[in-house]
Amino acid sequence: MSWIYPIIWLLCACDCWSTVIPRRSIMPVLHGELESPLYPRPYPDSLSEQWYLSVPAGYQLQLTFTHLDVEPSADCYYDSVTVMYEQKVLGKFCGQENSAEGRHPGRQPILSPGNHLRVIFHTDDSNAGPHQHIGFSAFYQAIDIDECSLPDPDDGSGPLCSQICHNTLGSYLCSCRHGYELRPDQRTCILHCGGGLYTEAEGVLTSPGYPLPSPLGMSCQYHISVELGFTVTLNFTEPFHIEDTGPDDSNCLHHWLQVSIPEREPMRLCGDESPGVIPTQSNSVQLEYRTDSTGLSRGWKVHYTTQRVQCESPGKISNGKVTPSFPQYLYRDYIHVRCDTGYKLMMGGKEIQSYFSVCQSDGQWLIPLPECHLIDCGDPSPLLNGGVSFLSGTKNQYHSVIEYHCNEPFYSLVDGVSVNYTCAADRKWKDHRNNYIIPKCFPVCGHPTASTMKLQRILGGATAPAGAFPWQVFLHTGSRGGAAVVGDQWLLTAAHNLFDGRSNSLIPMDRVKAYVGDIDIQKLLRFQPLSIASLHPHPNYNSKEISYNHDIALIKLQQPITFNHNVMPLCLPPKGAKYTTGTVGFVSGFGLTESDTISNILKYLRLPLVDHTVCGASIDSQRKLSSDVPSLTDNMFCAGFPEGGRDTCSGDSGGAFALRENDQYWAAGIVSWGINCGVQGTYGIYTRVENYVDWIKKTMEQN
Ligand SMILES: *[C@@H]1O[C@H](CO)[C@@H](O)[C@H](O)[C@H]1NC(C)=O
Ligand SMILES: *[C@@H]1O[C@H](CO)[C@@H](O)[C@H](O)[C@H]1NC(C)=O
Repeated sequence: MSWIYPIIWLLCACDCWSTVIPRRSIMPVLHGELESPLYPRPYPDSLSEQWYLSVPAGYQLQLTFTHLDVEPSADCYYDSVTVMYEQKVLGKFCGQENSAEGRHPGRQPILSPGNHLRVIFHTDDSNAGPHQHIGFSAFYQAIDIDECSLPDPDDGSGPLCSQICHNTLGSYLCSCRHGYELRPDQRTCILHCGGGLYTEAEGVLTSPGYPLPSPLGMSCQYHISVELGFTVTLNFTEPFHIEDTGPDDSNCLHHWLQVSIPEREPMRLCGDESPGVIPTQSNSVQLEYRTDSTGLSRGWKVHYTTQRVQCESPGKISNGKVTPSFPQYLYRDYIHVRCDTGYKLMMGGKEIQSYFSVCQSDGQWLIPLPECHLIDCGDPSPLLNGGVSFLSGTKNQYHSVIEYHCNEPFYSLVDGVSVNYTCAADRKWKDHRNNYIIPKCFPVCGHPTASTMKLQRILGGATAPAGAFPWQVFLHTGSRGGAAVVGDQWLLTAAHNLFDGRSNSLIPMDRVKAYVGDIDIQKLLRFQPLSIASLHPHPNYNSKEISYNHDIALIKLQQPITFNHNVMPLCLPPKGAKYTTGTVGFVSGFGLTESDTISNILKYLRLPLVDHTVCGASIDSQRKLSSDVPSLTDNMFCAGFPEGGRDTCSGDSGGAFALRENDQYWAAGIVSWGINCGVQGTYGIYTRVENYVDWIKKTMEQN
């Protein structure tokens, strides 16, 4: 009979033991009894009984006979109790206790090598007569095995526990000495070592116990991990010794140090020669040191250092400079590029203002190098009434030289015939004074290209050669008049031309038509009249009282006139202009004629200036005849011949009386008024322009 009691086996966890999982978590407490048939009465003949006894694995079965009384015979030949373990006979019994006959087990327990047993009771029928033998009774129990004291298994796997063995009921547990850990096989121990994370820029790692031999059965992990942008270099020093089991052990099978670098094949080291310096080119390196349970490794020592990642030299750049210049460029080094003077930074076809780049943690430059291209100043600004020509250089590039000039002889620079500008490093065209404002072409005044001098030697009305009086304006306001060009947007005339004779009010602008550019009215009238922007009679001119005082006006044009042979301005009076009696001036107009008909071709006269007193006397005498005659003021002067005959007349009003000085004609007067025309003893009266220079300039500036 046997009983199996399932019992939960509670683990004992103590400090000195590592955590273990028992091999049998359920262990029945087991014992039992058996007895021969009819016991305690004599057993029958011809028996052949068997008992199979077993206790749980991990135990041995121990059988003890409490009583045995079997017919004795030699070698228990007739009746016997045989105890067997598998095919092995542990004992064959018969006889009685304390009897010399037979073979009695006595009180000695029988121990099965395993956890089961077989008991066979065999009797024969050859008993002579009834016997008194009563058979046997026995007790069996499970006996714990001390696995720890068993010899090592035959399979060469080493001791049951590589370090400490604890026998337990029905089983055993392994544990490890301090500093070691039980491996998952629950038998062997591994040294708890390494495990460090090394983040310093430099350090020393050694095998456990170095320079003493490394403990066996260990696995140590070391991780060197430094900042991105740095690489680790390992330097193994002597002595270096990791067991190497011979020439065939190329994989360092039993003891090894493995160096692992991300994304590369791990490298296993063993042998007795230091691998020396290993540049890893990585910021992260794992070391794993392994020894198995046998052998000898004296260990190793490594000194690791870190280096900043290096970038390739950025190289040279033409027409520029890379700064700073280092023999080598490392992580976080910055470079700048500056182009030589006259060059600009270009990248991907575009100009950039500045360039810098940095060596990155992966050893690449952040941005590739730019290029330096010659700067250019762009097309030079065009010069109004002038031109620009290239003297040297191409494509407006740095150091190109251009020359500005004006359209001579109608326009000129303030000084000189031309001015050179050079393309400067700041991409501006500059003259030799570093001035980048382009020059200005000023109209040349009072320089007609055609001359009257050779054609006309006599004083008197004559047809004007084309271009001899290029300032002459044909003014039409309902009646004929004249004016003179004095600026590219300004005409000078008599104020009375701009007032309606009847209403005494200013003529509307659209009724004022001004023509320039020819000596023939027929041709002039085919031109577009100049478009007028505004009328500026002198503020003191009084159109109501017919005094002709301040008989001066300016007309502003909407568009500047481009001057040519036929249209050129007359100069304003120079500083300190002289009105010397007898000096001959020129007056031109479409009203001048010797007969009383109106001229369609421009005529001119040469008239001398008349002494102011003489003229005043002449006028006074006229005033006696007619009270309508205005008086001569200081704003007027007279010109003409005492004998009369040559004079300006009504159609000439507003035209200029030009004096010539230093080869230049200037506006001395404006045809203003007279008493009849060309009558003996009378003169033409002209507005004295010199008195109005300030007003003229002010009006021109302010409008
Ligand atoms: C490696 O270490 C040895 C011994 O400390 C030293 O002499 C040698 O200069 C080191 N090599 C490098 C590249 O650091
Ligand atoms: C302009 O440059 C040309 C050529 O370099 C030179 O011959 C000339 O004299 C210069 N003109 C002036 C006004 O500087």
